[in-house]
Amino acid sequence: MLEDKIWNLEDLDFDQSFDVHVGIAHTRWATHGAPSQLNSHPHRSDETIEFSVVHNGIITNYSDIKQFLLKKGYKFESETDTEVIAKLIKHIHDNHPDLSFRELVEQVVQQLEGAFALALKSVKYPGQCVVARRGSSLVVGIKSKTHLATDYIPVLFSKDTTGKSSTESEKKKKPEGDPKDREDHRPCHSSTIPNSTASLKRSESTTEFCPMGEDKEVEYFFASDASAIIEHTNRVIFLEDDDVAAVSDGNLTIHRLKRTLDDTTGREIITLKMEIQQIMKGNYSSFMQKEIFEQSESVINTMRGRVNFERETVVLGGIKDYIPEMKRCRRLLLIGCGTSFHSAIATRQVLEELTELPVMVELASDFLDRNTPIFRDDVCFFISQSGETADTLMALRYCKMRGALIVGVTNTVGSSICRESHCGVHINAGPEIGVASTKAYTSQFISLVMFSLMMCEDRISMQPRRSEIIQGLKTLPEQIEEVLKLDEKVHELSKTMYDKKSLLVMGRGYNSATCMEGALKIKELTYLHSEGILSGELKHGPLALVDQNMPVVMVVTRDPVYPKCMNALQQVTARDGRPVIICEKGDAETKKHAYNTLEVPHTVDCLQGILTVIPLQLLSYHIAVLRGCNVDCPRNLAKSVTVE
Ligand code: F6R
Repeated sequence: MLEDKIWNLEDLDFDQSFDVHVGIAHTRWATHGAPSQLNSHPHRSDETIEFSVVHNGIITNYSDIKQFLLKKGYKFESETDTEVIAKLIKHIHDNHPDLSFRELVEQVVQQLEGAFALALKSVKYPGQCVVARRGSSLVVGIKSKTHLATDYIPVLFSKDTTGKSSTESEKKKKPEGDPKDREDHRPCHSSTIPNSTASLKRSESTTEFCPMGEDKEVEYFFASDASAIIEHTNRVIFLEDDDVAAVSDGNLTIHRLKRTLDDTTGREIITLKMEIQQIMKGNYSSFMQKEIFEQSESVINTMRGRVNFERETVVLGGIKDYIPEMKRCRRLLLIGCGTSFHSAIATRQVLEELTELPVMVELASDFLDRNTPIFRDDVCFFISQSGETADTLMALRYCKMRGALIVGVTNTVGSSICRESHCGVHINAGPEIGVASTKAYTSQFISLVMFSLMMCEDRISMQPRRSEIIQGLKTLPEQIEEVLKLDEKVHELSKTMYDKKSLLVMGRGYNSATCMEGALKIKELTYLHSEGILSGELKHGPLALVDQNMPVVMVVTRDPVYPKCMNALQQVTARDGRPVIICEKGDAETKKHAYNTLEVPHTVDCLQGILTVIPLQLLSYHIAVLRGCNVDCPRNLAKSVTVE
């Protein structure tokens, strides 16, 4: 049995040579069945492997399909949801051998509910590969030795299974200032499983079309993320939900079964700016370490061309036309998961202060569970590094259907959240490869601060505060450099903590998010229990955990809640706690109470969280290394969580 990582495949001895030019592979985050060889992808239709499939996502109606296929005599080998796809395509093929490979896939995806990005190949259709997506991202890479004949792949529309042609699409309206003008986006629904005796008519979309001209040397790549293929090509197409793309005889075609309101006539071939060096580790031992150390650069990239430090202006091009509408809104909602949620917590206070609007911060999953009321004059921010997180995307669609203005804050050009938002901010942190998010957090933080600065540009009473924050942003990169010099000290400190069972991180006010984010980094990377505790809550329970053996990190900076933080500090030391304190450089008074300190430069209170979180990123990294954990790929986790 193969353990753990894909590079184990390199040790496999293939005793045959291949003359096919299509291969599919996938490492899947286990949703159904434990990680094991049997549950690993690809899944096959039968022992002769007539059809094989890899799948990212979850098929929610797999047990209905499985029951149907079991009754037809199919035998299943794995516990996964994916296997039904391989069996179902064989079932349809056996009953309709005249259908092309792509038409078979179209029939299959009509039966699937849930989220999927699929890639299929078949011995019956050598040299062909068909992919499809709904709810999970799927990007096509195109590599050509010669200049491509086109920048655009037209979408071919099929007729549906009943042979009726689809209705003409309405052109999508550009969202405008008034919420009443924005359109709803309604997801498609699948139909019932075709009875083997029903007649499936061939679709009529197969017009002869050669998008790449005469260039037969084109190579195609399909992946869920562009960083997986950037070493081969930077020319990509982001497929839309319900697209089916097929490569056959060296040609790529993109099809849709039915027209929807959102349809455009084609898919643009985009040239990504991503460089291969950005997804290499360089001299660092892991991507996470590289990404922590990149933060002095990545925050500059987030602000580049947006903040003018001399004139003290801030312009976010992707949302500037919507600012008047935002100023009139009922409330702002910031929605995300994990680290992205923490960036919303980190900036809530400054958003409330500078926009003078109510600001709700929501975990996407919980927000959906509650069926939270949403109104047309709400402005909803969806914060996501990957732009593909299923919970966040579902929450986005929920708010969009209710008429709210949708603002995407993402790090991934072309991602689903980017494309489905009315407007947005690209945080420009550069590709983040390590599963644990680091530089995306600080760039999300800065993006939201920039937004709050834009919202109060014309408020005379707020100019001194605006100016203070803008000047704070200016010095941030060099201050981050200074914090990163703590690395060796943090390394030494980690040696005193790596063998403990638990670690508490405490703070309040502007540093609440730092505690939560620091604890998340520690638990996900080191597998130690860790909790971010808001110091105001200490006396309501968590204080019972404190004694001389419990490692405690406290964030105490010179902001308006400093006296309250000092109270909490004293409560901890009075119980024999031995806190390591993250405080401001030269703060002799606070240092008196510390067992050990990590000193960071002083900045404006609402930006201090950027400097206080970095020592915790470093601490989690060093503890993980000392404990022998895989820093870039912590167990059980995935970088892009495309399942709900
Ligand atoms: C933690 C981490 C996760 C992500 C979360 C949301 O280090 O990376 O908590 O922040 O899965 O992901 P995005 O931001 O891609 O939506």
